[in-house]
Amino acid sequence: MEFNVKSGNPEKQRTACLIIGVSQPRKLSRAGQQIDRISDGYLSTIIRRGDMDGKSGQTLVLHNVPGTLADRVLLVGCGKDKDLNERSFLKILDSLSKALDNLGAMEAYSYLTDINIKGRDVHWKVRQTVIQMEKNRYLFDQLKSDKKEPPKSIRKLVMNVPSRRELSVGENAILQGNAISSGINLAKDLGNLPGNICTPSYLAEQAVRLDKTFPSITTEVLEEEDMKKLEMGSLLSVSAGSRQPAKLVSIHYEGASKDDKPITLVGKGVTFDSGGISIKPGAAMDEMKFDMCGAASVLGTMTAVAEMQLPMNVVGIIPTTENLPDGLATKPGDIVTSMSGQTIEILNTDAEGRLILCDALTYADKYNPDVVIDIATLTGACIIALGHNPSAVLGNHSPLVNDLISAGKKVEDKVWELPLWDEYQDQLKSNFADMANIGGRDAGTITAACFLSRFTKKYKWAHLDIAGTAWNSGEKKGATGRPVSLLTQYILDRMEEKDR
Ligand code: BES
Ligand code: MN
Ligand code: ZN
Repeated sequence: MEFNVKSGNPEKQRTACLIIGVSQPRKLSRAGQQIDRISDGYLSTIIRRGDMDGKSGQTLVLHNVPGTLADRVLLVGCGKDKDLNERSFLKILDSLSKALDNLGAMEAYSYLTDINIKGRDVHWKVRQTVIQMEKNRYLFDQLKSDKKEPPKSIRKLVMNVPSRRELSVGENAILQGNAISSGINLAKDLGNLPGNICTPSYLAEQAVRLDKTFPSITTEVLEEEDMKKLEMGSLLSVSAGSRQPAKLVSIHYEGASKDDKPITLVGKGVTFDSGGISIKPGAAMDEMKFDMCGAASVLGTMTAVAEMQLPMNVVGIIPTTENLPDGLATKPGDIVTSMSGQTIEILNTDAEGRLILCDALTYADKYNPDVVIDIATLTGACIIALGHNPSAVLGNHSPLVNDLISAGKKVEDKVWELPLWDEYQDQLKSNFADMANIGGRDAGTITAACFLSRFTKKYKWAHLDIAGTAWNSGEKKGATGRPVSLLTQYILDRMEEKDR
């Protein structure tokens, strides 16, 4: 879809569809009042009759409204003013997008950017509109032979900004919204692709493709022999059970000077997690193709950052492998030596994410990172603790954790902190090695993070467990693209802080 910003009076817009907000109870927005005045109370009469109360989710199409140059006026319910927040704004856009799908209009002009949301400026509103519209248009049908016609919708959306001075702000917001949408869509596509297509080699190829697309990106792919030389015994113990070779991918985005320390993202890329010898039960095992969504979010974020050409340095690291029970697979009780030198007793081969991440996190130190954030579909326990709304965040540096929490709130890609206290470290004791790879049933998300914390002592680090947020199950089964929005916002926030 094409987006644009303009500034002007609603009655003067020659458009197929003028989009006007109505809040509860029966309250026209400013643009609505302007139309009402010009049309001799046409809108207020309709509202008084009870056809549009202003409830969020409600929409009403009017044709040939007197005094306007628009073919239609689409009234969109915005709910009560006091309930307006980031989340309700996105819900309003969601119902707008659905209403536009069933119209004959090819383009529309929206005044919903005038809605007042505490603490959020027009830049935010324009950007989130772009992202929400693109989200609703996402379709994954590349593997269906019978491609359904996508719903007929508008090709172009113009959004109003309060004054001409804000036009450039709006244009920048559109640029950001488009870039973030590309990142989200890439993350969704990679997540949705099945394990027989999206293999570790496929993920590595995607990273190489970024290198070819963006001059500011350089990609490096390490093979299993390279990892052997680096003594990544933990990562290699997971790929031992698979015939697909593991890869360790590094993606460098250079937008700032060489001595600017990079924000470093490490994403779990298990392209299929059968559990290995500690094999999983059969029910819903297909969903373990989504076990590379951390990696996908890194590729998505790198894409967004490169499209925006941000003046930052960002490094993405992706350890990627399958977790399968081959004859050479690692067995419960096996002890391996990680790149850090610490030994690990593998009591459960299904706790494989931490085994590949720990070596990638040790490796990350070579980039002299400013901060390291790892992103992983790490524990089922995270879903028990937090459900499917927030991702979990744990880390060794509270300003970093707080920055992530605040970035998540801004873009409705929220995270909630769990305690990474020393008390929990005891659960990882092993009789035979430096540590075990599991900490028992209790507090599984925390003990997984405790495990990782033993490999991240040299830098500021946060861990995002996205087990409950990376994909939907059931009828809406599919990748969500989370937490691309959160990560991109975090990087944008850091950029602003640098500017100041
Ligand atoms: N990829 C899974 C975590 C997962 C499970 C995410 C279900 C989303 C839905 C991870 O590799 C895993 O299997 N974790 C185990 C750890 C346990 C053996 C300590 C788990 O959560 O059961
Ligand atoms: Mn597993
Ligand atoms: Zn896994």
